[in-house]
Amino acid sequence: MTDTYRVVTIPGDGIGPEVVAATCTVLDALGARAGFAFEWSPIVMGGAAIDTYGIPLRDEDLALAAAAADAVLLGAVGGPKWDVPGAPVRPEQALLALRKGLGLFANLRPVAAEPALIAASPLRQDLVAGVDLLIVRELTGGLYFGERQEPTDGPNGRQAYDTLLYTEPEVARVARLAFQLARGRRNRVTSVDKANVLASSRLWRTVVNEIAAEFPDVELEHRLVDSCAMQLITSPGIFDVVVTENMFGDILSDEASVLAGSLGMLPSASLGETRTAHGLLGVYEPIHGSAPDIAGQGVANPAATILSGAMMLRWSFGRHAEADALEAAVRQALADGFRTGDLLGAGDEGFVRVGTDGFRDAVLERLTVGPAA
Ligand code: IPM
Ligand code: MG
Repeated sequence: MTDTYRVVTIPGDGIGPEVVAATCTVLDALGARAGFAFEWSPIVMGGAAIDTYGIPLRDEDLALAAAAADAVLLGAVGGPKWDVPGAPVRPEQALLALRKGLGLFANLRPVAAEPALIAASPLRQDLVAGVDLLIVRELTGGLYFGERQEPTDGPNGRQAYDTLLYTEPEVARVARLAFQLARGRRNRVTSVDKANVLASSRLWRTVVNEIAAEFPDVELEHRLVDSCAMQLITSPGIFDVVVTENMFGDILSDEASVLAGSLGMLPSASLGETRTAHGLLGVYEPIHGSAPDIAGQGVANPAATILSGAMMLRWSFGRHAEADALEAAVRQALADGFRTGDLLGAGDEGFVRVGTDGFRDAVLERLTVGPAA
């Protein structure tokens, strides 16, 4: 019997629809060769949903992702059109509602220096070569979800606040996952906080230390977020698994993306504890945004979304060999010189400049998944 995976797709805004379409084509082809199939169910979310329904995510669409899907593949949401100060609804609210609604407390953001792209990094090549780290960002707590007050009139003019709150179980579960992931890598966890100032960080550090006792084979170090930000640039090679609070993880992961040569290369997986018939329910999305400046032109780099598809194969469907094959095909396309515009600098020569579909086809031609036995 052929496995069929039910995937909700959220093309979203800007370049989202283009990179998701390219990824679905690649996954369909891979499935056809390996003996499984996808059932795609698109939903409208983000700015597109504000335009269509007046809200960024409808309850029934969230329910579809929560109850009738094995995984979610997301392009990007947002854009200047909806980026209006004081707007009652924002596309990004949908993303937060999706993460919270599906209980996706851990966001995995792998950052590896791609040999073919090392020269594209603005950093010195000897620093970047060999970088291979995994940021595990807490995704449903902290500053993003604490109590907040939009600007109101106070005794000294307008005031507003956000709250950074963590509970022990929230820290424990993401820390435990980080340690487990380190076991499959280089057995090293860096926990990042601001324990010299923040009470929530002192709880974070205490709980991480307690969880560490369950993993005596994994080396743990604590780093303050400011010094970690510096070290990601000065000595990125020292990091293996980096686990941190929601907002710190948001900032550090964009910073770390510079190590990989382009934001257009980085995939992500958001996971919780919901199991489906095939594996863990997850949302898979590129780290980059909707890039409205190049939307609709067919030039967006689909690599991060295709690589997110590989993470989906691995985490939601247990298809490790196919995930490896897909990642290898992307790597080979780069090694063979295929480049979307974001990966090309002025004066770059000897590369094959391609658009979204050209890169997709270069990947397809390099997929070495045999027909199902
Ligand atoms: C990310 C993005 C989102 C976040 C935005 C779009 C809300 O920056 O996934 O990193 O801050 O989590
Ligand atoms: Mg971000």
